[in-house]
Amino acid sequence: MKIMCQFCKSVYNIRIESLPHRKIVTVRCKKCGNLIRFVHPLENGADAVSAPSNHRVSSVEKGPPQAAPRHDPAKVRALKQKIRMCLMGFIPPIAHVVAKAQMVMSDPDASLRDLVEVIETDQGITTYALRVANSAYYGLSGRVTSIRHASVLLGNKIMGEIIAMAGARGFLGKMLRGYGLESEVLWRHSLAVGIGCKMLATRKAPDLEQDAFAAGLLHDAGMIMLDPYIFEKKELFDEIMEDGTCTFLQAERITLGLDHCEVCAEMFAEWGLPKGLLKPVAHHHRPGASAGGLGYAVHIADIMARRCGYGAGVDDMLYQADKRAMAFFDLEEEALAGLCGEIRDSVKKIVMEM
Ligand SMILES: [Fe+2]
Ligand SMILES: [Fe+2]
Repeated sequence: MKIMCQFCKSVYNIRIESLPHRKIVTVRCKKCGNLIRFVHPLENGADAVSAPSNHRVSSVEKGPPQAAPRHDPAKVRALKQKIRMCLMGFIPPIAHVVAKAQMVMSDPDASLRDLVEVIETDQGITTYALRVANSAYYGLSGRVTSIRHASVLLGNKIMGEIIAMAGARGFLGKMLRGYGLESEVLWRHSLAVGIGCKMLATRKAPDLEQDAFAAGLLHDAGMIMLDPYIFEKKELFDEIMEDGTCTFLQAERITLGLDHCEVCAEMFAEWGLPKGLLKPVAHHHRPGASAGGLGYAVHIADIMARRCGYGAGVDDMLYQADKRAMAFFDLEEEALAGLCGEIRDSVKKIVMEM
């Protein structure tokens, strides 16, 4: 039988007898290294060549492979309220720090003193920010010993970025028992998306640069918020994810009647995070829905992060780039591979110091 890699279009001849006896088979493309997934031909007689594309479900262009049950709207509202009440009492440093960092970054005349004061009261954030400032990525390797010194050397923009990163790390670095993600997995994914987003903005849409890093960094914070509720229904959630054709987003909707994008945008609004972050977060898996350029950037950066090894779960290969988002940044599929390499190198430079 023949299989085709959806990324580099390489075609391989594979002997059916050599395939493992499971419904969804995964093999790695020898040319580009991406995973090719397809239905075992003896399981349902699917056409082998087209099987991979049938099972790369786009949350944008195709519906969920399993119809979402109708959830009682009153129950969904009640669940949202429960999440809201639970999180209202817990405003993580992320909200305070990111809001302040964005303010300083948006005003070229603003003094860094305010921002420095905010984080110097938190030892954990300060230590992490110093490590990041000294990482190979920012090029100050070992030369900076205080936040004030780093801010003089790096300036408002970069310092805002580092501080947003330091403020978000504790929140995003947790283990997600509901989704089955080890600690740091979501953090590294978030970092990769933040870097990818900034990269796209710098090259193609400088007017988006201001919010790009923070929007990418925080886009999946809703998964942290939903995780306890997914964990309560873990058996159902795992069953939905089992055959490998469903994304986390679809499984959230089937299990809870809501998803991490909408919950996150609503909580960010409650926490007073900058308004510019709300739409990109809310629409990062459905960028057509008036997400704007920044929504497109987060969407593409999310896909690039998944392709370069910093994914956010077992559903990594099920997402496809939205055509409008690709056109907005004037990108072709082939160009993504080069950007992925840069993202991978950048994340490595930051995390290797931690
Ligand atoms: Fe997401
Ligand atoms: Fe993501």
